[in-house]
Amino acid sequence: MPGSVIVGTQWGDEGKGRFTDYLAKEASLCVRYQGGHNAGHTIIVGEEVFKLQLVPSGALYPWVIPVIGNGVVVDPAVLIKELDMLEGRGVDTRRLRLSGNAHMIMPYHQEMDALTERYLGKNKLGTTKRGIGPTYADKALRVGLRIQDLLDPKIFREKLDLVLREKNQVLTRVYNRLPIDPKDLADRYLSMVPRLAPMIDDTVHIVHEALDAQQWVLFEGAQATYLDLDHGTYPFVTSSNPIAGGVCAGAGVGPRDIARIVGVVKAYTTRVGSGPFPTELFEGDVVGDLLVDRGREFGTNTGRKRRPGWLDLVMLRHANRLNSSTELAITKLDVLSPLDELKVCVAYEDDTGKRYDHVPYHQSILHKVKPIYETLPGWGSEIETAERREDLPSQARDYVQFIEDFTGVHVSFVSVGPERDQTVVLPKKS
Ligand code: GDP
Ligand code: IMO
Ligand code: MG
Repeated sequence: MPGSVIVGTQWGDEGKGRFTDYLAKEASLCVRYQGGHNAGHTIIVGEEVFKLQLVPSGALYPWVIPVIGNGVVVDPAVLIKELDMLEGRGVDTRRLRLSGNAHMIMPYHQEMDALTERYLGKNKLGTTKRGIGPTYADKALRVGLRIQDLLDPKIFREKLDLVLREKNQVLTRVYNRLPIDPKDLADRYLSMVPRLAPMIDDTVHIVHEALDAQQWVLFEGAQATYLDLDHGTYPFVTSSNPIAGGVCAGAGVGPRDIARIVGVVKAYTTRVGSGPFPTELFEGDVVGDLLVDRGREFGTNTGRKRRPGWLDLVMLRHANRLNSSTELAITKLDVLSPLDELKVCVAYEDDTGKRYDHVPYHQSILHKVKPIYETLPGWGSEIETAERREDLPSQARDYVQFIEDFTGVHVSFVSVGPERDQTVVLPKKS
């Protein structure tokens, strides 16, 4: 059986974690393929709330093997902390497999991330300051340290010495910071080896063994399409490729190994950090405030307030192209319930009155476009107990249908609350 991908179609926090958890019950592997602990994926099971940063969201099922693929950047201390948290709550994490090829986030990466942001001043990207950008930069520069380096302490120390020779120059001479002691740092990382070693593995082989055995492999995206390094709103993006195609490089499979691509889309839009956002509802807007309040739109990871806005179908349609989404999962439909009318962006207009039916590639244009909205009626009643399509008010069904018609991609799930079972399955009409 081929692989399936869960991918965010907006700027992150669409609810990928909850849908990964929902779909993973039938999977044998759940694989993260990019990003690091900049991700914050929330899963709610009964009274329990799990906030995962590095461990794949399928980990809660005892039969699923969670895999951290080669494309992920890993802070080993964060991983151990998360595993301890899960173990403390009764989740057996010994099955987790960690790619030996994954690059490690080092303390100097985190420090450089924060320093770069500080130097950018008002032009800062609003990163999570987890060291993501500097770690991927070192990977591309070929001076990164990989998980497998930990297995050979002599090599690890040599590589770290070499890297710190340059990093310490930059830290002390450019940024006026204290140098990092290579021995201290090596000792700190090597002390984690007894805990990590049993998990380090050839994850590409594991994924292919499962695919060959016709098992269902679920790839869990972190971040999202418009945070993609190549296709997002650069430079206000992350440093990896969250798009579905990122699975190929980040987990070591070919495009033909992927058959199902579930694009997760929030029923409205949010964004954390800086960058263009055509349908943004600014501070003080009543609807924006309602979305933030009802949707609890505060970063899972950093606690920052998320910027709210209406659903942008122009972006969604383009995201479906970039990911070749085979279906959509709409989250947080319940958040819209009190609104009398709902706006969805169907095109943009620039200051000369020129209309755009697609996302303009040029940032200067995207920064300035105004959304052209279609207004749809709200439903005015709570929907969080809906279990089937028929339980949804007709206006809610129409809202979902509008998205499906506009994008031409089937909406197969709608979630009406944060819990695992608050999911309405929408079978394809024949
Ligand atoms: P991710 O990063 O894409 O996994 O999403 P996050 O976990 O960062 O953010 C999604 C937030 O919305 C979490 O707090 C979820 O518990 C919550 N959530 C997910 N689906 C729904 C839903 O259908 N309704 C409501 N009200 N909340 C939801
Ligand atoms: P999940 O997986 C929302 C944003 C940051 C910043 C930009 C770059 O939970 O959807 P980075 O630290 O990656 O260099 O920051 O990307 N960002 C996210 N926004 N959800 C995320 O992850 C994000 N991960 C990074 O806010 O604007
Ligand atoms: Mg999140």
